[in-house]
Amino acid sequence: MIVVTGASGRLGRLVIDQLLARGTDPDSIIAVIRNPAREVRLQGRNLRIRHADYTDPDSLRTAFAGADRILLISSNAGRGRIAHHRNVVDAARNAEVDLLVYTSMLRADDSGIGLAIDHRETETAIAHSQVPSVILRNGWYLENYTENLATDLATGMHLGSAGDGRVAAAARIDYAAAAAAVLTDDGHAGNTYELAADFGFTMSELAETVTRVSGKPLIYTDLPSGEHVKALVDAGIPEAAAELYADWDAGISRGDLDVAGPKLRELIGRAPTSLSQAVTATLN
Ligand SMILES: NC(=O)c1ccc[n+]([C@@H]2O[C@H](COP(=O)([O-])OP(=O)(O)OC[C@H]3O[C@@H](n4cnc5c(N)ncnc54)[C@H](OP(=O)(O)O)[C@@H]3O)[C@@H](O)[C@H]2O)c1
Repeated sequence: MIVVTGASGRLGRLVIDQLLARGTDPDSIIAVIRNPAREVRLQGRNLRIRHADYTDPDSLRTAFAGADRILLISSNAGRGRIAHHRNVVDAARNAEVDLLVYTSMLRADDSGIGLAIDHRETETAIAHSQVPSVILRNGWYLENYTENLATDLATGMHLGSAGDGRVAAAARIDYAAAAAAVLTDDGHAGNTYELAADFGFTMSELAETVTRVSGKPLIYTDLPSGEHVKALVDAGIPEAAAELYADWDAGISRGDLDVAGPKLRELIGRAPTSLSQAVTATLN
């Protein structure tokens, strides 16, 4: 049995579809979701569905009964993530699974981005648990950029504080395909994989690509970090979120989210989605 947590989420659903595309029997997939109302998102796939909350250890133990392999998709909670993930690790150990796969963050061990702290702590908890594991250090999603293209194009400006730093973002579908490969193939236990696109792009290159594909001008405006936060707050984004975005851009400017090697390509057996492909798919 393969358990996928966060199965109602965007990455989780894609992982399940990739497992099915690899020929995994739907009856051997347990989709763990928090909110029963979101079962509808998995309709038509004939999976086993169980309910559990990362904050509720008993619910996790019940959901993991009979599991052989578990994919822990990191929580999207702003606070308490380390405790939530520890609950999942404890439940995985209790279930005596063969493999626990965790979606961490690129260069979680030495990244200066604040979000990396939770991932580092979770990786440590997994190591201490002694459950056989694979750490998937996922890079940024291309969707972080393509989701906002309409707003960018309406203003003709993409604001940021990433300087000339490169981000080797790949699409969620690429990371999902990598997770499905690790969950179904043997020989991955004990590894930590840094997963990112083959090529990083700067924010200026993002703007150039959008301009070329859309035929409408988009300019990247680089701001000092404090001014970036202020511009986001002025645009209606809560201050905590604005600071988070500026922290990510500071990381990009340092190279914390740049190319990390060919592992993503190797795992999925094809080139990861390029920026140009993602922008074209979004705008057409
Ligand atoms: N690499 C990147 O660029 C990037 C960007 C954004 C996020 N992330 C990380 O990658 C993860 C997966 O991305 P995504 O796009 O699939 O995010 P998503 O669509 O927001 O999905 C997150 C999933 O986590 C579940 N979840 C959250 N808290 C939970 C809890 N207490 N108990 C059980 N399930 C819980 C959510 O359940 P509900 O449906 O009930 O909310 C949802 O299914 C995110 O959670 C975040 O940690 C990475």
